Amino acid sequence: MKIDAPRLHRRIAALAEIGDTGDGGVCRLALTDDDKAGRDLVLTWMRELGLRVEVDVVGNITGTWPADATEAPVLTGSHIDTVRTGGRFDGNLGVLAGLECIETVITAGTELARPLAVGVFTDEEGSRFAPDMLGSLVFVGGMAPEEALSTSDRDGLVLGDELARIGYAGPIPCPQRPPHAYVELHVEQGPVLEAEGITIGAVTGVQGISWQELTITGQSNHAGTTPMHLRHDAGAVAAQIAVAVRDLATSPGGPHVGTVGRLDLHPDLVNVVAGRAVLTVDLRDTDEAVLAAAEKSFAEQVRALAEAEGVEVATRTLARFEPVAFDEALVDLVEAIATEHGHSVKRLPSGAGHDAQMLARVCPSAMVFVPSVKGISHNPAELTSDSDIEAGANVLLDLLLELATDRLQIRKRSVAGSAEGAA
Ligand code: GLV
Ligand code: MN
Ligand code: MN
Repeated sequence: MKIDAPRLHRRIAALAEIGDTGDGGVCRLALTDDDKAGRDLVLTWMRELGLRVEVDVVGNITGTWPADATEAPVLTGSHIDTVRTGGRFDGNLGVLAGLECIETVITAGTELARPLAVGVFTDEEGSRFAPDMLGSLVFVGGMAPEEALSTSDRDGLVLGDELARIGYAGPIPCPQRPPHAYVELHVEQGPVLEAEGITIGAVTGVQGISWQELTITGQSNHAGTTPMHLRHDAGAVAAQIAVAVRDLATSPGGPHVGTVGRLDLHPDLVNVVAGRAVLTVDLRDTDEAVLAAAEKSFAEQVRALAEAEGVEVATRTLARFEPVAFDEALVDLVEAIATEHGHSVKRLPSGAGHDAQMLARVCPSAMVFVPSVKGISHNPAELTSDSDIEAGANVLLDLLLELATDRLQIRKRSVAGSAEGAA
C-alpha cells in the first residue's frame, strides 16, 4: 500500500495559499483569521473522508476513522499554525501526511485492529501564545485548560477569547484519553540529513527548551546630553545580554544553542537612550543538567550586567520543558521500516520542539524526519523535495499500519524468537 503523492502535494500547496506571504512563505499565527481559514480547510477534508471530527476545549482537532470507533486510536498529526515568517512544511506536512495515510487506508478498504486518528494541535509554535506546544501540552494534562485559555499575546489579546472568536472553542474536555501510540512526520528543520545525504531521520528525542522574557528598565534620556557614565541604558544591557547568550552557547560545556530572537526597545528613537528593553532568550540542550547549569550561569550574568548599569531586570519564564526520549521500540521501528523501503536512515535528536514530545508523556511516541533543503526553517525559503515528502509519508503509513494492526508485537515476538533460536 502506498500513499497518493500528487494528492498530498496538492493539499500542501492548497493549505499554503492561506496566509501566503508572497515570497513562498506562510503566516498563520495561532488563532488568527488565517489560522481559522486553514483549520476550516483541513476540517472540510476530514469531513469529506467521513472521519469523526472533534474539537477540544483549547481547539485541538482530531479526525478519527472509523467514525464510530470507541477504542484508543493510533494518533498521528502535528500543527498548522506557523511563525510569522514561516514556511509551508513545518507542521503542515505532519497533518496532511496523516490525513493522506488515513485516506489511503480507507481507499484500500483495509480492516485495522485499532482506529486511526489525525490531530491538529493548537499553537504549537508558541510565537503568539507561550509556551510552545500549548495545545498538545493541554491534551496530555501538562497544563490546565483554564491556564491555557487565560494566556495572552503581546497585544494583550487572550487565547480563550481568540479561540471563541474563530469558532474553535470545542466541547471535548482535556486532558484527553491517551492514544494507543503517537507518531509524527515532520521536516527536520536542520541541516544534518541533507548534509549526510540521508532520506529518513529516526528521531530519538527532543532537546530541552528554556524560554524567558526579560524586561529591562533603565532611564530614558537625551542621547546628546547624557554623559555615558550617568546612563541607565536598557538598550546597552540588552545588547550585552544578547552577547552573553551567544558566548554561553559557544563556550565548552555550554548549552547546545542559545538565541535572542526578539528585542524591543522603548521609546525606539534615534536620539533617545532606551529606557526599557524587552527581549526573549531561547536556550536548548539534550542534557537537562547542562540546560539547568546554563540557566543558572545566565541569571548570574544578567544580575551583574544590570548592577553595573543601574537598571532593573524582571524575568518571566515563557516555556520550560525537559529533554524527552522517544519510545525505543518505536524508534527502532521507524529505522526498520525506512530500511525496508530502501532508504538511508539516521537516528538523531530533534533540535526543534514538537507535539510528539508532549504526547510522549502519555503514550509510546516517535517521529520521522525528512530533510530540509539547506537546513532552513522558520523562514519562507523552507523546502523539502517532493520525493522526500513521499518517502516520509510512506514510512508514516507503514508505521501507522504496524501500530494499528499490532504487527509491532508480532515483529517483537519474531525478533525475540530468532534471538532465542540463536542462543
Ligand atoms: C517550536 O516549534 C520550536 O522549536 O521553537
Ligand atoms: Mn513544527
Ligand atoms: Mn516551527
